[in-house]
Amino acid sequence: LEMEGRAAFEAAATPEAVEAARVDFLGMKSGRLKSAQARLKELNPAGKRIYGQAFNETKAALEQAHEAARLRVSSQRGVASRLDVTLPGTAPRLGHRHPLTQTIEELIDLFARFGFSLALGPEVEDVFHNFEALNIPETHPARDPSDNFYLNTGALLRSQTSTVQIRVMEAQRPPVRIISLGRVYRPDEMDQTHSFMFHQIEGLMVDRGVTMADLKTVLRMFCSAYLGEEVTIRFRPSFFPFTEPSVEVDMKWIGGDHWVEMGGAGMVDPNVLRAVGYDPEQVTGFAFGLGIERLCMRRHQIDDIRLFYQNDARFLRQF
Ligand code: PHE
Repeated sequence: LEMEGRAAFEAAATPEAVEAARVDFLGMKSGRLKSAQARLKELNPAGKRIYGQAFNETKAALEQAHEAARLRVSSQRGVASRLDVTLPGTAPRLGHRHPLTQTIEELIDLFARFGFSLALGPEVEDVFHNFEALNIPETHPARDPSDNFYLNTGALLRSQTSTVQIRVMEAQRPPVRIISLGRVYRPDEMDQTHSFMFHQIEGLMVDRGVTMADLKTVLRMFCSAYLGEEVTIRFRPSFFPFTEPSVEVDMKWIGGDHWVEMGGAGMVDPNVLRAVGYDPEQVTGFAFGLGIERLCMRRHQIDDIRLFYQNDARFLRQF
């Protein structure tokens, strides 16, 4: 009986088969062990003692075999039986575009509606496009090695996106109406408002009869569209070698109590037009360069430029 029982439990491959073997051998009503127990009554005391002992050992062995079989089939089904497909799932957290990328895409879209197409230029730039063609002479302090990231080759990481003005005008005849966006590099100390790498949006429009009023109008329309508020623009006299006259562009918002500097702008210097083969008697143009981080910070009330570069998910998740 013991051997038959062990074999039955060992052969059982499913919980149902184990249960059937249990009923067959260990069942309380008509199991085979139960009927073996019934024969005890027919024996004399000495026989009862021997038979009883054998009976107890068989019973223990079968119970053990049953337990082993039960564990074996239940652990096989473990994963499946623990998986409750009716429970609500855990949604994976999806990544999304960096706030600066979102800003850049929005700026491209906005200026496209004003008729400005997109032009991109290299971040590793030559001295000609970063300085010379922009009317920045060799002796100018802006060329100083302490203010630029020069490479061993003599090229440099561009310090401004104005380089793209030159590349575009070299490649096409007027009229020109482009924006360019991208990284620029300057060896500044990092603080709340400065970074050695940041992003600029450059605009350039060259055509017959383009004036400073066009510049101011385009900038104001753009700012209202991007920031969704009434924005006042102030031009402060300034100097850039590649524009004449030159201005710093300040902006002030309704309810705001101070002017915020957004970048530089001006009328393209005749020397620059000549350097790319345009005739300053025929066409004029404006150019502007604004800090993209500044725009994004203003839009979202971000108070520290370093947050853009730390990749802290707690910051990025908010956009
Ligand atoms: N390139 C200038 C800067 O980085 C900004 C500028 C762009 C000024 C275009 C005038 C015209 O400060």
